[in-house]
Amino acid sequence: MNFGAPALAARVIAWQRRHGRHALPWQRTRDPYRVWLSEIMLQQTQVTTVLGYYQRFLEQFPDVSALAAAPADEVLALWAGLGYYSRARNLHRCAQAVVAEHGGRFPRSAAALATLPGIGRSTAAAIAAFCFDERVAILDGNVKRVLTRALGFGEDLAIVRHERALWARAEAMLPPSDGMVAYTQGLMDLGATLCSQRAPRCAACPLADDCVARREGRPEDYPVKTRKLKRGQRTIALLWLVQGDRVWLVRRPASGIWAGLWSLPEFDSIEGVREYLAGWPGSSDEVPAFTHVLTHLDLRLQPLRHALPARARRDAALLSMWPEGRWVSRSELGAYGLPAPVAKLLTSDQLLAAQELVDQREPL
Ligand code: ADE
Repeated sequence: MNFGAPALAARVIAWQRRHGRHALPWQRTRDPYRVWLSEIMLQQTQVTTVLGYYQRFLEQFPDVSALAAAPADEVLALWAGLGYYSRARNLHRCAQAVVAEHGGRFPRSAAALATLPGIGRSTAAAIAAFCFDERVAILDGNVKRVLTRALGFGEDLAIVRHERALWARAEAMLPPSDGMVAYTQGLMDLGATLCSQRAPRCAACPLADDCVARREGRPEDYPVKTRKLKRGQRTIALLWLVQGDRVWLVRRPASGIWAGLWSLPEFDSIEGVREYLAGWPGSSDEVPAFTHVLTHLDLRLQPLRHALPARARRDAALLSMWPEGRWVSRSELGAYGLPAPVAKLLTSDQLLAAQELVDQREPL
């Protein structure tokens, strides 16, 4: 059986108004800058994590011109820890495009918004629906789950033709006129709360009576997507070089994981780090390895901490190997965009322990 468009939309709207989320900071505004910022942050990141970042971003960059005028490093530093750093670079580029090409005002249609950096079709639709009441469909990961289940849409979404067909179904289900804000938020809220990947809470769902997946008794089989992410594993050895209260940081390349962030120099193995350090004054300590989980990858991080004596002079070889490297003191760390696990490592008590090892006055 199928939902008639008005039936589904009306139920989502009524449910959202009673049971949906209403107090999130980006819901109390129709300012497209604020809504856009929240939507980009909420891609791949949970609401609870986003809240603090959102507030700090708005304090530092109260409007799109402020963000556009900021140095890229400042934007990355504020973003550090949210992950998926291409979002931060696109965010900055998008702000600059809004200023340069649209006179500092976000365009008011989903179609025009979708031409800007980092704004995909669903994000453009969300902004246009929330800010301008445009009658346009969203279809992010959560909403795909809600709609494929409700409709019993079992085609493989890894195939573009099927994904397009689902977009068409999503468009056909839009409410006839009013209620785009509640409808759009309602689909998001259902996907984020009741209609979870595993063990959905169908008993509380406003769509349960007509949900095909529920009737089939297999909601967890939707959505169908064959191209599975292949999780990889990688081990990286990190050189954690300290001298006094400073640590040696290098800038990561502009692509790949943690692109453009500052981090510790990387080696393929701990032996590689030891080899590199051979003959250096000071003392080395292995720090317990830990795993950092990324979407596609379990990253095993194995740091080796090496404390240079206070009076050792900077080593020219070090500088030439990492042209974009520098000594950064503990108090300056906050100004650098660091990958979350590296930030954690550097601010852990282990750094204090490392500093205590420093005072061995060997000449270089
Ligand atoms: N996820 C994506 N957009 C969202 C929004 N506006 N509110 C809550 N969660 C979201």
